[in-house]
Amino acid sequence: MKSCYLFLAVACSLLVIASAGSFYQDCDITWGDGRAKILNNGQLLTLSLDKTSGSGFRTKNEYLFAKIDMQIKLVPGNSAGTVTTYYLSSEGPTHDEIDFEFLGNLSGDPYTLHTNVFTQGKGNREMQFKLWFDPTMDFHTYSILWNPRHVIFMVDGTPIRDFKNLESRGIAFPKNQPMRIYSSLWNADDWATRGGAVKTDWSNAPFVASYRNFNADACVPASGTSKCASNAASNNGGWWNQEVDSTAQERMKWVQQNYMIYNYCSDLKRFPQGLPPECSIA
Ligand SMILES: *[C@@H]1O[C@H](CO)[C@@H](O)[C@H](O)[C@H]1NC(C)=O
Repeated sequence: MKSCYLFLAVACSLLVIASAGSFYQDCDITWGDGRAKILNNGQLLTLSLDKTSGSGFRTKNEYLFAKIDMQIKLVPGNSAGTVTTYYLSSEGPTHDEIDFEFLGNLSGDPYTLHTNVFTQGKGNREMQFKLWFDPTMDFHTYSILWNPRHVIFMVDGTPIRDFKNLESRGIAFPKNQPMRIYSSLWNADDWATRGGAVKTDWSNAPFVASYRNFNADACVPASGTSKCASNAASNNGGWWNQEVDSTAQERMKWVQQNYMIYNYCSDLKRFPQGLPPECSIA
């Protein structure tokens, strides 16, 4: 054991994992009755959805801070009504959750990338984006960087959203509850596409989304307590201390100005009593 970072003022034991491996090794298929498949010696995972059922998987490990990368190729063609999710979540009624959701659309119409952050069971922090490429043509990398000070959502390395630790201002931040990655492909045509107006066209089924190159540079909780170590940073490209630097800030601004289609922080109608407190802290 190396020297430890006393983040939670507890004695900490180092258990850092870097997994760049096989879906067999890292993930469990959790539902879908054969519709989720691990292929190519564990290098590829596909989820499928038909009229009877969708499918899903989750990681075997739980993480307490991590940089997670996943390459995903979304359902091509007419994907209206389908939702592909990819998120970190803990368990229980006061859970934390960091969400990517991809809402399908008619052929030629853009997918919506929906993001949200739940802390201690409370969400309502949606931000939605269009993408600057067709996410069904190729694999693209969707990353969640979760360290003690930031939750950063990234698309092909470009940050699109930075949820900061503002605990000093009384806003909860996910930092005590270990989370797993979950992913699923399911039918949500009651709300997903144009608010539910466009239904899933089952003549296009089965719908298939593909996953590869899962990589988790992560700290994991050891022996039942919440512990994590700083070495994660130096050993894994510095993600432990990473924030959105000035160059990345410019990129994020570009995305938010040109591709953001919804921001809860500007939805005054929804929050007539006042926007959530984090919205007024830059
Ligand atoms: C689908 O395309 C329409 C038309 O461009 C757009 O208004 C909508 O936001 C897109 N996404 C979803 C999920 O409905």
